[in-house]
Amino acid sequence: MKVVLSWSETAALIFILNVCFNESYQLTGLQVCSLCGGTVQNTSDVGPFCSSSAGRIDRRCCLANNNTSDPERIIGLDLSNCSLTQVKELPGASKVFMIDLSLNPIVNISEKVFLGFLGLNYMILPQDVLCPGGNVSWQKVEVKQGKRLCEGQNNMCNQTGQMSMSCPEHSLCGPYGPGFFECSCAENYQGYKCLRQGEFPVVEVFGPLAASTVVISFLVWVTQRRKAKSL
Ligand SMILES: *[C@@H]1O[C@H](CO)[C@@H](O)[C@H](O)[C@H]1NC(C)=O
Ligand SMILES: *[C@@H]1O[C@H](CO)[C@@H](O)[C@H](O)[C@H]1NC(C)=O
Ligand SMILES: *[C@@H]1O[C@H](CO)[C@@H](O)[C@H](O)[C@H]1NC(C)=O
Ligand SMILES: *[C@@H]1O[C@H](CO)[C@@H](O)[C@H](O)[C@H]1NC(C)=O
Ligand SMILES: *[C@@H]1O[C@H](CO)[C@@H](O)[C@H](O)[C@H]1NC(C)=O
Ligand SMILES: *[C@@H]1O[C@H](CO)[C@@H](O)[C@H](O)[C@H]1NC(C)=O
Ligand SMILES: *[C@@H]1O[C@H](CO)[C@@H](O)[C@H](O)[C@H]1NC(C)=O
Repeated sequence: MKVVLSWSETAALIFILNVCFNESYQLTGLQVCSLCGGTVQNTSDVGPFCSSSAGRIDRRCCLANNNTSDPERIIGLDLSNCSLTQVKELPGASKVFMIDLSLNPIVNISEKVFLGFLGLNYMILPQDVLCPGGNVSWQKVEVKQGKRLCEGQNNMCNQTGQMSMSCPEHSLCGPYGPGFFECSCAENYQGYKCLRQGEFPVVEVFGPLAASTVVISFLVWVTQRRKAKSL
C-alpha cells in the first residue's frame, strides 16, 4: 500500500482514495479521451506530436506504446476548444507528455490534477491560466498568440537544496509531477521518519517548496493511523 499526501489542505485520506481511483480508471479505459467531442483538433500541437511519436489517435488522445509488449498509454491529450471551465482530474493520463487545454474558458485547474504526472513536459494553456506549480516548476514559460506554454518540467528536488530539507532523514527526494516532490524511504529504512528498518510499506510524502509543516502533520497522521491499525 502507498501512503501519499499533497501539500494542499485536503486530508491525506482523500488522496489515497484518489490514487486508488486513478489506478482503477487506468484499468477500465480512456474516459478522459471523450471529455471533449471529436478527435484531436487539427489546430493542436498534439496532432504533429502524435505523428512524430508514431502514436495512434483515439478521439482526443494520442496513444502509443514503446514496446509491443507494453500496454498502450496516453502520451498526448488535446482538450482544446471544448468549453471546459474547470479541470478537476484527468484519470488514466498520468503518463502523458503533452496536454493542450487552450481555447477553453478555464477559470480553475485543481492543483492536484497533475500529481504524479512525471512525464508531462509540454502544456498549452489559455493565456490567463498559470502553469501548474508556478513558473518555478518549468524550464520555460512563455505567452504566445493568446496561449501560455509550459515547457520542460523541473525537478523540485533540485531547487537549490530547499526541497531536500523537507524530506525526513533516511528518505530520498524524487520528482512527482509539476510542483510536487516525493520522499521515499531509503532502502532498508521504513516507517516513522524512516528511522526504523524493516518491511513496512514504503512511505511517500508529497509537497511543494518549504512544506515542512505539512510533512510534520503527515507524520503525526501516519503514527496515529498505525496506532489505530494495531488496536
Ligand atoms: C482544420 O479542419 C477544418 C475542417 O475540419 C478545415 O476547414 C481547416 O482548413 C483545417 N485546418 C488546418 C490548418 O488544416
Ligand atoms: C520510449 O522510451 C524512451 C526511453 O525509454 C522515451 O524517451 C520515449 O519518449 C518513449 N516513447 C514513447 C512513445 O513513450
Ligand atoms: C521491451 O520490453 C522487454 C520486456 O519488458 C525488454 O526486455 C526490452 O528491452 C524492451 N525493449 C525496448 C526497446 O524498450
Ligand atoms: C472551435 O470550435 C468551434 C466549434 O466547435 C469552431 O467553429 C472553431 O473554428 C474552433 N476554433 C478553433 C481555433 O479551432
Ligand atoms: C479554484 O478552486 C479552488 C479549490 O478547488 C478554490 O479554493 C479556489 O477559490 C478556486 N479559484 C477560483 C478562481 O475559482
Ligand atoms: C511567469 O512567466 C511568465 C512568462 O515568462 C511571466 O509573464 C510571469 O510574470 C511569470 N510569473 C511569475 C510569478 O514570475
Ligand atoms: C540540477 O540542476 C543543475 C543546474 O540547475 C543541473 O546542472 C543538474 O543536472 C541538475 N541535476 C538533476 C539531477 O536534475
